[in-house]
Amino acid sequence: MTLRTLDSLGSLEGKRVIVRCDLNVPLRDGVITDDGRVRASLPTLNALINAGARVIVCSHLGRPDGAPDPQYSLEPVAQRLSELLGKPVAFARDTVGESAHDAVESLEDGGVVVIENLRFNPGETAKDDVTRQAFAAQLAELGDALVSDGFGVVHRKQASVYELAELLPSSAGLLIAAELDVLDRLTETPERPYAVVLGGSKVSDKLGVISHLLPRVDRILVGGGMLFTFLKAQGHPVAASLLEEDQLDTVRGYLAEAEQRGVEIVLPTDVVVAASFSADAAHEIAAADSIEATAFGASGIGLDIGPETAARFAEVIRSSKTVFWNGPMGVFEFPAFAAGTKTVAQALTEVDGLSVVGGGDSAAAVRQLGFDDDQFGHISTGGGASLEFLEGKKLPGLEVLGWA
Ligand code: 3PG
Repeated sequence: MTLRTLDSLGSLEGKRVIVRCDLNVPLRDGVITDDGRVRASLPTLNALINAGARVIVCSHLGRPDGAPDPQYSLEPVAQRLSELLGKPVAFARDTVGESAHDAVESLEDGGVVVIENLRFNPGETAKDDVTRQAFAAQLAELGDALVSDGFGVVHRKQASVYELAELLPSSAGLLIAAELDVLDRLTETPERPYAVVLGGSKVSDKLGVISHLLPRVDRILVGGGMLFTFLKAQGHPVAASLLEEDQLDTVRGYLAEAEQRGVEIVLPTDVVVAASFSADAAHEIAAADSIEATAFGASGIGLDIGPETAARFAEVIRSSKTVFWNGPMGVFEFPAFAAGTKTVAQALTEVDGLSVVGGGDSAAAVRQLGFDDDQFGHISTGGGASLEFLEGKKLPGLEVLGWA
């Protein structure tokens, strides 16, 4: 079965169309620090506006505990959306209450309202099906059709993602279709050599993807906090760096499997070691097999890949035809430890083939480091979702739209 697309919904003129977006953007003091997900939702919203639909935008933001919490309000997002669409966007102060119903009733054809954070309602993320179904039924009262376009949340079996799509005529939006197009190219017919660059703090988050990708890729480059578990698995001391002791055997298993399959695992040969975890910490470059040999001894903390490693990673990336990258190489939020991530991002912009930045932290990193979205083949809006897709998992929010 293939994904149901917008045209499957027929004419939408005058219809109330709920759009499930992923507008879960980072905020600092109420200000959006990366509006990538808001921008990514524009093609679908504009298509619906132009079709004369009455557009009801819903999303989660953060992880509030099933009750209203002002720091997670979608109001700043509604304002940003209005600026980007170049037209007024109404905001409802609740999700399925009086304010939402009034705002929807006041909509004209081509008008847009954002309703308050779905996760202010316990039914959105409830574990039991009946509670989720009940909340989905309340949401369904607001619309005649659902366009599901929150790619970043398709791996979650939540009321607005799954049950609502069963209750109303539903289709995927343009963002989900575009994301799947790219991810499909990564899984079906990747041009070779195919390299996957993995970073971020936890090996345990990436286990599924490493195991699924080992038979499918040519090179896996390992940076970020997870690199220390790899170094330790090879018998090197890592001082006070991040370490997942309970993953050492699994990592050894991957290293052995990679060798047997002829997959090159590219590990750091040098790292930036700091005296402490802080932006202005004293730091030194150390060989990857002698991290404890710095002035900080056993209390040193590795916070970035070193320059030799970054140059080697860049070379491997540039000589690949398909590259998928998920997870920063170091603590890029601190300028002193951002060089590895910057070099990797730069190399991705130079790939003669398909380069994909996989969501979340990596997307925020490339924008924060001054790169433009169009320098990459694709920047996914889904971190967890794109990883789970590449792990070969069935994603509930896609299955319910006909994807198989
Ligand atoms: C994300 O940021 O990856 C998505 O918005 C999903 O958010 P969640 O992990 O809180 O479900």
